[in-house]
Amino acid sequence: MFCWKSAFYQNNWMAVYFSQVSLPLTLAICAGASQISPDGKCEWKISMDLSYKRSGMEIDMVEDIKRLKEEKDVVILAHYYVDGKVQEIADYVGDSYFLAKKATQVKQKNILFCGVSFMGESAKILNPEKKVIMADKLADCPMAHMVDIDKIHEVRKLYPDVSVVCYVNSTAEIKAESDVCVTSSNAMRIVQKLSNQHIFFIPDNNLARYIAKKLPEKKFIFNDGYCHVHKSIDRESVQRAKELHPAALVLSHPECTEDVLDISDFIGSTSEIIDFATASDAKEFIICTEMGVFYELEQKNPGKRFFSVGHRQFCPNMKRITLDKVKTALEEMEPELTLDEAMRVKANKPLARMLELAQ
Ligand code: 13P
Ligand code: SF4
Repeated sequence: MFCWKSAFYQNNWMAVYFSQVSLPLTLAICAGASQISPDGKCEWKISMDLSYKRSGMEIDMVEDIKRLKEEKDVVILAHYYVDGKVQEIADYVGDSYFLAKKATQVKQKNILFCGVSFMGESAKILNPEKKVIMADKLADCPMAHMVDIDKIHEVRKLYPDVSVVCYVNSTAEIKAESDVCVTSSNAMRIVQKLSNQHIFFIPDNNLARYIAKKLPEKKFIFNDGYCHVHKSIDRESVQRAKELHPAALVLSHPECTEDVLDISDFIGSTSEIIDFATASDAKEFIICTEMGVFYELEQKNPGKRFFSVGHRQFCPNMKRITLDKVKTALEEMEPELTLDEAMRVKANKPLARMLELAQ
């Protein structure tokens, strides 16, 4: 029965993932991942074998990374969506809010970011005196580009009292035109605190609609950005996973579409999903976000079972980051992330306001 192979090659970006992540890890995941559902279709049960052995080359690489980061005074920050092997060597792993905050607290002179560009940009905007290096300079979040400055200006003209609320998954240029930044873990709290009645929430439409539903007293103006990874998690697949695992709770990221959120038991950021599953008495969970979170979920909960809803839960940009790229970045202290200083100063305001309002 054919299963994992077709899953990987159905989309071009899956092929990109396959070529970027080490083959042994991919096979380890696949071996433990596929199972055939009663209707004969391939259901993905992610059960990563966390004891998978590092190859001799990887053991050397990890030792080199440890040595280099000490020698060069570097702290490694990684997002939960990067490969588990990269999460393992990071000094701090977290959701977007945790990482932005952590970047302002670390004592090292240099930050090596294992995540997509907007995350590294946030670290640089908040810490101009630090050198920020990206593990892969091409790792970028497509949603970050799904709004333009002209649209912000248009909305500002139409609604003079508007607050432009910018999800951190956005470029530095867009942040520079915004009033306040938010992440999935603090958006509700922050929007609630704003006195403005009109909220232009950019770029993500799904997160905006989720918050708008909870805050009916605000008038939202929506943008049509989205995350392709979360959009591809469809309600039918979630329902099928629920039929297969009736005792499992459905935990979803708010970037998922409304019809998926409607049948979820818990909605939260990547950290919040991990914390919820860890604190819960339930033993089984269907996870509706990018599969990188399975690493920490399984680390923290060896007695619990986590299921994905299909094969599309991969962010190809996050999966560009590999151990060898981390090592090369440390050796060369490149690619460095640089920003125009005038823009950085403008973009710092909404980010600093986020840190203040999120308290
Ligand atoms: P978190 O802020 O929940 O980590 O999400 C970041 C992200 O890119 C979601 O797709
Ligand atoms: Fe962007 Fe989606 Fe990847 Fe998150 S999962 S970085 S929103 S493409």
